[in-house]
Amino acid sequence: HKERSSTTLPLIFYGRVIHCTSRTKVTILSNASLGVDKHGKIAFLEATHLPPSEVARRHHSFDDASVIHLDPLQFLFPGLVDTHMHAPQYPNISLGMEGDLKEWCEGWTDPIEASYSDTSKAHRVYPAMVSNLLNNGTTTVAYNSSIHPDATNALAEICKAKGQRAIIGKLCIELGATHGNMEKSVEQSLSGEQKVIEHIIRNVDPKGELVHPCIQPRAGSYVSGSLMKGLGNLCHNSTDEKVGLRIQAHMCETPLEVSNMHDLHPGHQSYADMYDHHGLFGPRTILAHCIHLTDRDVDLMAQRGVGVAHNPNSNTCLRDGWCRVRRLLDHGIKVGLGTDCSAGYSISILNAMRQASNVSRHLAISTGEDRWVLKFEELVYLATMGGAEVCSLGDRIGNFEAGKEFDALLVDVGLDDNINVQGWEDDEDAMLKKWVFMGDDRSIRKVFVAGKLVAGKDIR
Ligand code: GUN
Ligand code: FE
Repeated sequence: HKERSSTTLPLIFYGRVIHCTSRTKVTILSNASLGVDKHGKIAFLEATHLPPSEVARRHHSFDDASVIHLDPLQFLFPGLVDTHMHAPQYPNISLGMEGDLKEWCEGWTDPIEASYSDTSKAHRVYPAMVSNLLNNGTTTVAYNSSIHPDATNALAEICKAKGQRAIIGKLCIELGATHGNMEKSVEQSLSGEQKVIEHIIRNVDPKGELVHPCIQPRAGSYVSGSLMKGLGNLCHNSTDEKVGLRIQAHMCETPLEVSNMHDLHPGHQSYADMYDHHGLFGPRTILAHCIHLTDRDVDLMAQRGVGVAHNPNSNTCLRDGWCRVRRLLDHGIKVGLGTDCSAGYSISILNAMRQASNVSRHLAISTGEDRWVLKFEELVYLATMGGAEVCSLGDRIGNFEAGKEFDALLVDVGLDDNINVQGWEDDEDAMLKKWVFMGDDRSIRKVFVAGKLVAGKDIR
């Protein structure tokens, strides 16, 4: 039977709450009380199960709150963050794993991205994609789009309507691509980007509640210096929200991609220096991959406060290499996880956690040094708080600190026979690990974004 508890706000949960409270710490509260206020924000998280009379005494606005009691095999977990996903490539998932990055871009990615000149394709593909990601627990996504303003605007509208938190911009490609997957001029690229930014700010989400605009140079080898400069000026002149415009781009994915960047942008000491020169390298910058980094890249990344989207599934499929996450964390650089579909074959951030673990272990095997291995707590950090920080949303989401917005999953490991908790029912740590390494959408009952129930098994 389906649980049909009301999720009307304000709402109180009683039961197990699990979240990340630092880069290296996962806190499990066995019997907590968590209150979500009428605006969808976390009003309180008490480590102990407060009796209703005590909640009423301490928190008057919760007098008539809805109440959900969690079962012993259930827990609340922060919504998962995908810091790098290519929306238009969604239909290609699992295809095209034969080639390297260049062959894959030319054979698979350019043709499918170019096909979104037909905006109706966006309306066919994106609603199912957003629903699928939400049902898999991904409450926030930094989406890469295609070069088409209309298809990108559609993506923004669909995310807002379905209640997914998202960072969205039009992809800028001026040269170096195939199958006509390029814009005709610097002016066309810049005015298209501006059109999307204005549509998001004016029409889609004027209060900046869920959908945030960004600028999106594909990578250093696809965008000339003058377009980079124009994009930098767009960021510099943006007056939209207090956070300002975010930036998403690829960096240091393969040795060939790095050398193509240097050919197109001669005179820069490193890849990071090129972006930095054009004003695109700061705390709101999200950089996918960052595998083939020089010491200079790493130093500038740390100085400027950029964030990294680590895409272990994609990096393995394209044989790009292994991102040294430990090196980034040691330098204090923000890191989150990305699925990078369709170069990666799974839209699941739980899968990304597993693959990040495996990549870190391959690094340890190849170097003989254990320090590369990511600890379980660090995987949880990357998937939640780290992702939130990379998206410049660390003050709004990522864990259940009072004052943040309630982006959460109600997980029920009892729903999925693949998760064999028999014998471990009383071990919360084991239950969490089993969910992370064996779970999927079958064990996700409810998905909340900003306090609103938007997906999950209970409403399917
Ligand atoms: N480099 C340029 N375009 C892409 C893309 O779509 N995915 C990945 N992984 N790398 C890229
Ligand atoms: Fe990518």
